[in-house]
Amino acid sequence: MKREQLLEAVRGQITKHRYEHTLGVVETAIRLAEKYGADKEKAETAAILHDYCKFWPEDKMRNIIENTPHIPKDLLEYDTELWHAHVGAEVVRRDLGIEDEEILDAIRYHTSGRENMTLLEKVVCLADYIEPGRQFPGVDELRTAAEEDLDRALAKGLGGTITFLVNREKRIYPLTVLARNSLVKPKMKNVKEEE
Ligand SMILES: [Fe+2]
Ligand SMILES: [Fe+2]
Repeated sequence: MKREQLLEAVRGQITKHRYEHTLGVVETAIRLAEKYGADKEKAETAAILHDYCKFWPEDKMRNIIENTPHIPKDLLEYDTELWHAHVGAEVVRRDLGIEDEEILDAIRYHTSGRENMTLLEKVVCLADYIEPGRQFPGVDELRTAAEEDLDRALAKGLGGTITFLVNREKRIYPLTVLARNSLVKPKMKNVKEEE
């Protein structure tokens, strides 16, 4: 499928506002891919499709999670906000014929992240945080970090998500913690030096 056909397919699935967000993610993902050396075409396709199932009804998503063997079932115990990413990867494979596993993984992990993310996954996940339409406290700091260090910027983004969820007394999906930990270099303090 060509870029225009994919955009058309996405446009039929999401709200106008979310479509504009998607275009922002596409533009940002291409730019980050260029900057950090990821595959631009794959970044573009993953960005176009990343929120394909964002507005699907909960029961429809639950059904796909329950009936797709490789989707982790523990997702059902966490915020429904996480579901559209895993479900989206399956649906774009099934309905749009997207077979590239790297693209599918970038869609699948764009919300939660995961341990040892690929360059493409990082680019799409970070683009989702900082696209021009995003407005939340700290987004400008994140945009600046994105110009300097991909891992540090993404760790900041995921850290913000974790803090946001903690402040709302929500559960944290373990992959998000693992994703952040794998992006932050361990700083071991030498106890003796501190004495
Ligand atoms: Fe999303
Ligand atoms: Fe998004």
